[in-house]
Amino acid sequence: MKVLITGGSGALGRSLKEAFGGAYMPSSREMDVTDRELTRKKILEYRPDMLMHAAALVNIPKCEQEKKYAWNVNVEGVQNVVNALKELDNGCYLIYMSTACVFAGEKEKYYIEDDPACPANYYGFTKLCGEIVTRQYPNTLIIRTNFAARGKWKHPKAFVDRFGTYLFTDQVVSAMKELISLKKTGLFHVVGDKRISMHELATLGGDTEVGKISLKEYNGPHVTVDMSMSTVRWKKYRIA
Ligand SMILES: NC(=O)c1ccc[n+]([C@@H]2O[C@H](COP(=O)([O-])OP(=O)(O)OC[C@H]3O[C@@H](n4cnc5c(N)ncnc54)[C@H](OP(=O)(O)O)[C@@H]3O)[C@@H](O)[C@H]2O)c1
Repeated sequence: MKVLITGGSGALGRSLKEAFGGAYMPSSREMDVTDRELTRKKILEYRPDMLMHAAALVNIPKCEQEKKYAWNVNVEGVQNVVNALKELDNGCYLIYMSTACVFAGEKEKYYIEDDPACPANYYGFTKLCGEIVTRQYPNTLIIRTNFAARGKWKHPKAFVDRFGTYLFTDQVVSAMKELISLKKTGLFHVVGDKRISMHELATLGGDTEVGKISLKEYNGPHVTVDMSMSTVRWKKYRIA
């Protein structure tokens, strides 16, 4: 089976690389998804049987500050991929990575797949639009999740009062493999079994030195407070 993975240099992409060793993982230069013709050419040349679309602009402040760019990557980029797959017309299985940020983030709401989405920031809005774009293509699996890579936390401090039902990237990839093996299509939440803070997540992932920060000390753009999700279509995974 020929597998194409976008976003291979990212946090999730690194775990995908370990799990799908033989996959074609073009860099963002080789296949910039905002470039319609380049994306079309790469996909039509490679002719994937499965395409995992993990490329996105995920930096929430940058999405707020550079809305046009965020739209181009997170929405037009998905449209370019979908258009190329429609043209390829080989029934390629599309996996689209979405996020808990499509929800408003009310405290301990535990959003399920059937809850109405209502993004609180531009990143979440573009990812929700990306979901809608993928629905133009029939053979699509949409996975909403929330994760971090194990090891050193990506910031010097982690929030003690921002929460989610997080997983680690390798666990998300294991869940993806299960869903893929069953050829699932439609929308699924891939979630951990516990609501924990970002700081708990960072330490559980092995960074015992990471500092603590609370929302009271924070003065950046709006961030979601509680990204906890549940699932009525799949199962929960033990965060460990
Ligand atoms: N992080 C989370 O907690 C989380 C939660 C839920 C869902 N997701 C979703 O999961 C996916 C992976 O997230 P991540 O945290 O692994 O992201 P990440 O570490 O920020 O990596 C993003 C990836 O997208 C690539 N990329 C950016 N712009 C691109 C473009 N124009 N064309 C092609 N590739 C481009 C980047 O390539 P370069 O490095 O070369 O720029 C990088 O490989 C995303 O779709 C994200 O929305 C993330």
